[in-house]
Amino acid sequence: MKILTGNSNKKLSEKISKQLKTKLVNNNIKKFSDSEVYVEINENIRGNSIFIIQSISSPANDNLMELLLCIDALKRSSAKNITAVIPYFGYARQDRKVVPRTSISAKLVSNLITKAGADRVVTVDLHAGQIQGFFDIPVDNLFATPIFARHIKKRIKNKNLICVAPDVGGVERTRALARKLDIGLSIIDKRRPAPGKSQVMNVVGNVSGKTCIIVDDIIDSGGTIVNAADALIKRGAKEVHVYITHGVLSGEAVKKIKKSKIKKLVITDTINNSDKLKNSINIEVLSISNLLAEAIKRISNSTSVSDLFK
Ligand code: R5P
Repeated sequence: MKILTGNSNKKLSEKISKQLKTKLVNNNIKKFSDSEVYVEINENIRGNSIFIIQSISSPANDNLMELLLCIDALKRSSAKNITAVIPYFGYARQDRKVVPRTSISAKLVSNLITKAGADRVVTVDLHAGQIQGFFDIPVDNLFATPIFARHIKKRIKNKNLICVAPDVGGVERTRALARKLDIGLSIIDKRRPAPGKSQVMNVVGNVSGKTCIIVDDIIDSGGTIVNAADALIKRGAKEVHVYITHGVLSGEAVKKIKKSKIKKLVITDTINNSDKLKNSINIEVLSISNLLAEAIKRISNSTSVSDLFK
């Protein structure tokens, strides 16, 4: 078994390879002057099971192309099998036609990954679980919930807790965490009046006097979470803590979080945000590397991955 990394999150790949006590495959990914991506593998991988680690994070198109070309290079180098480990699966939010005459990027990206030659996909907190069905190869969708639950138990001492789903789409994920913590659930009725804009219509459940734990898969512009925190505080919540798997953090998101009513935002390192978070005071990053390393080990040894979440 060997591990190869793309350029999207080398820090995470290095942590994973260290945990698995293996060296990253020697490769070279660069760009030609016209911006085309070039991939070269500098060691023999014939007959090896290869795990390529690459998030489809910003710059999403470059990182996606790197992933596809790495898979292609591995296939042409006679790898025995190729697992695409995609900690952050970008393009997943366009998973259906919300208005007529639009594309479904999640399906197209799934087709591209399969067509390039991947035999299996490992990812974390897919935006919608049913995207697994867009693939005709096995997909292991891992969850950050156990990592968040451990952190909450250790760090938040207040016992009057409630888990809050920031929109209806996040209820299943939020319920999973609420069940682990043995606490109640509240749901925010969110509307999107325009792409990138969000509005809280209502909060279902009583949050008054409670410490709220908002859970989501993605924080992008930060609009959803900042508005949710405002609405909860307005309805009498004592504190708002936020746990989100993928810190997309585009535009002014970090500034918005800093100025918001959020006590603490906890994200994972599925996306490398080292530069963006240099001066942030209320954002903490938990590493997902142990979970991914363990999943890779189990896939390699043909043992159960789902047992990780029992
Ligand atoms: C939407 O369904 C997702 O789960 C997130 O809530 C959304 O992508 C967050 O976006 P933003 O931070 O831009 O509001």
